[in-house]
Amino acid sequence: MMRNILLIGGSSGIGLAAKNLLESQGNKVIATSRSTFEATNPQATLSIPESLDGLVYCPGTINLKPFHRLTDQEFLTDWEVNFLGATRALRLALPSLKKAPSASVVLFSTVAVKCGMPMHASIASAKGAVEGLTRSLAAEWAPKIRVNAIAPSLTETPLAAGILADDKRREAAAERHPLKMIGQAEHSAELVSYLLSDASRFTTGQILRPDGGLSSLRLF
Ligand SMILES: NC(=O)c1ccc[n+]([C@@H]2O[C@H](COP(=O)([O-])OP(=O)(O)OC[C@H]3O[C@@H](n4cnc5c(N)ncnc54)[C@H](OP(=O)(O)O)[C@@H]3O)[C@@H](O)[C@H]2O)c1
Repeated sequence: MMRNILLIGGSSGIGLAAKNLLESQGNKVIATSRSTFEATNPQATLSIPESLDGLVYCPGTINLKPFHRLTDQEFLTDWEVNFLGATRALRLALPSLKKAPSASVVLFSTVAVKCGMPMHASIASAKGAVEGLTRSLAAEWAPKIRVNAIAPSLTETPLAAGILADDKRREAAAERHPLKMIGQAEHSAELVSYLLSDASRFTTGQILRPDGGLSSLRLF
């Protein structure tokens, strides 16, 4: 079935992989990035079809620092891109999501919300708010609009390029995961496709975790 899907942040990384996968499945994807929708601008508008079956919000940040070096401005920037931008996209899309017979929203969190990690205070706080938003809206908009989030671990995208800059760092990152690998954009893109599809029609208010087991397992 062809669906109308609005994908915020479809020009790189997970968003781009999701766009390619959703289009290959016959969906109509309206993809944006900063040139067409600046998530941190409260006045930003978007041209949205009359009826929308899905909304995916991908913009995110990685600003890893010890707490004592984080400024108010850095907390605010992470909050704007990760959380407020999502609420702005949701506000713009809601009238069209309501017009579809059933609709699905996919937001992005991070493994660092469930599993505390040093240097992640700012991003984990902003994404923690996204997880709270996910469950609140899932309750408020049931049964017509489902709302779920994906919380990946380190994933090979332009956003994580600095952290995965050389083979040594990539191998060390893979070693930290019970499944002994780092995430690929496709791992999360496949979950986006699942959460937008009828296959997940009994699933709402959930956080799915493509994290190689990092947040839940300890291998002795
Ligand atoms: N990669 C990881 O290791 C990892 C780990 C945990 C969670 N995540 C989460 O997964 C999601 C996707 O991450 P990714 O790695 O695919 O990121 P990415 O490669 O940086 O892609 C982000 C997309 O969002 C757009 N974007 C960024 N800032 C924006 C803004 N202010 N307004 C509008 N669009 C904006 C970018 O397009 P333009 O730059 O062209 O505007 C791009 O299309 C994020 O929410 C991230 O926090 C990623």
